[in-house]
Amino acid sequence: MKKRYLAPFVLSALFFAACGGGSKSGEQAATSETEQPADNSMVSPNANKPMTKGQELMAQQDCKTCHKEEMKLVGPSFKDIAGKYPNTEENVDKLADKIIKGGSGNWGEVAMLPHSNISKDDAKEMVRYILSLSANQ
Ligand code: HEC
Repeated sequence: MKKRYLAPFVLSALFFAACGGGSKSGEQAATSETEQPADNSMVSPNANKPMTKGQELMAQQDCKTCHKEEMKLVGPSFKDIAGKYPNTEENVDKLADKIIKGGSGNWGEVAMLPHSNISKDDAKEMVRYILSLSANQ
């Protein structure tokens, strides 16, 4: 018979335990919000691929504001450029000069801005990378 009197105490103990648990999980939710995984949406999906020297040099320049690998933007896509010019030393030389001096006429009226701060050797590395993107290679 004694147990009966204990029941209200047991129930209230459970009640407080439940409340305590409730507020605890609230705290956990608050802390997990600050532990969101890093936002990688701005990182290119190819970021883990090793970059060639030309690709690295281009990443430091403004090329990507006008060129994409697969799609025409302000300038032709790098795949289109690779399709137009065979990967010869002569073409590498000619296109490296074009990157440095800028100009228009080969793809349309829109001109590429000059890049007078880029050395000829660096420009050649970039062209070698661009021409390596040709679909037939
Ligand atoms: C302001 C926009 C712009 C920027 C920045 C730019 N380009 Fe261009 N690029 C163009 C345009 C427009 C053309 C097409 C020119 C033409 O019709 O002759 C072009 C053409 C080219 C060509 C082909 C040239 C030819 O005569 O066929 C190469 C190679 C090239 N760009 C590489 C680069 C590289 C490498 C960079 C970064 C260092 C770069 N571009 C930055 C707009 C740009």
